[in-house]
Amino acid sequence: MTVVLGIESSCDETGVGLVRDGRLLGQALASSMDEHARFGGVVPEIAARAHVQAIRQVVHSALDDAGLRPADVGAVAVTTGPGLAGALQVGLAAAKGLAYALDVPLHGVHHLAGHVAADTLEHGPLPDPCMVLIVSGGHTSLLHVTDLAREPVAHLGDTLDDAAGECFDKVARVFGLPYPGGPAVDRAARDGDPRAVAFPRPLTGPRDERYGFSFSGLKTAAARWAERHRAEGVPLPVADGAASLQEAVADVLTRKAVAACRDRGVGTLVVVGGVAANSRVRALAEERCRAAGITLRVPPPRLCTDNGAMIAAVGDLLVRAGAEPAPWDVSVDPSAPLGYAALHPRGRGAGAAAAGNAAAVPAGAGASS
Ligand code: KG4
Ligand code: ZN
Repeated sequence: MTVVLGIESSCDETGVGLVRDGRLLGQALASSMDEHARFGGVVPEIAARAHVQAIRQVVHSALDDAGLRPADVGAVAVTTGPGLAGALQVGLAAAKGLAYALDVPLHGVHHLAGHVAADTLEHGPLPDPCMVLIVSGGHTSLLHVTDLAREPVAHLGDTLDDAAGECFDKVARVFGLPYPGGPAVDRAARDGDPRAVAFPRPLTGPRDERYGFSFSGLKTAAARWAERHRAEGVPLPVADGAASLQEAVADVLTRKAVAACRDRGVGTLVVVGGVAANSRVRALAEERCRAAGITLRVPPPRLCTDNGAMIAAVGDLLVRAGAEPAPWDVSVDPSAPLGYAALHPRGRGAGAAAAGNAAAVPAGAGASS
């Protein structure tokens, strides 16, 4: 069985994980989050530089954590998109260097497929099919997943504007909470009343896009609510605002995800991505899935946010499915849509990127269907 080393560097976390046959052997993580805090969001140049400084040590720490030596690594997987271009480049350069030096295959991986695969490290192989709600700082999507390593992922719906995590991050800033906003809202909400403020539930009307999401209206409603308090000179009840915002986000996410499972007759819902770490999203998903007879799978919080183990998990699935490795001129694709879990864009333009991706799927796996 091959040991796969996975590298994640698409945003502000430098993550490395080691996976063999669906099992996590070890991992390490460095974060530049603190360096971005005073800017209220991730600064791409700072993130890229931090990856350069951290990557070597994180690779060594992950190997130490697994009790392995570099020579034990049989394949390298790396996030090639989507994400910040400079940050992705650092991870890819490191992955190419490692794979070349160890003379092992390299696999380019779609970041969102990594979030999906993270759950397999905790709960075993994904059932085919399953419904996946992916909720992160940059994405909010409902996906119909069959065989992650071989089949394309079908998008049922996405956010029309802000992602759920982005909504938490931006509203937290208006509420005067620290960056990153999601965990701060989660903490503040503990002391609040989720019914205190009647925030809107966007796109939940009978004529609205059934699987689409929209969070910019909710963000604006929360910002207006805070501004009204400030204009009136009264203290902002942050805990109530945070609890009510969290309730609105959790309500919309779980309502639509459960509806999608019911509509499609899918028995398992998997909730992944940074926002899947949110306590209310987890609790409400649990409650509603139980009522609907749907099996819920949510990875533990440390596997919800960005990490290297999830990329190694996809690499392990690809290796076991016999997928073609990436060519040495594989490049990054900062805005890659999720089609296949393997993402092998070539460094020669958009058309070549699509061709490179399709070529990564083994023959007969339905690359064009
Ligand atoms: O998946 P992730 O680590 O990175 C992206 O790929 O975007 O997700 C980061 C997002 C941020 O918006 C962060 O505020 C949010 O996940 N997040 C949370 C929680 N922990 C992280 N949102 C709500 N509650 C949390 N506990
Ligand atoms: Zn992510």
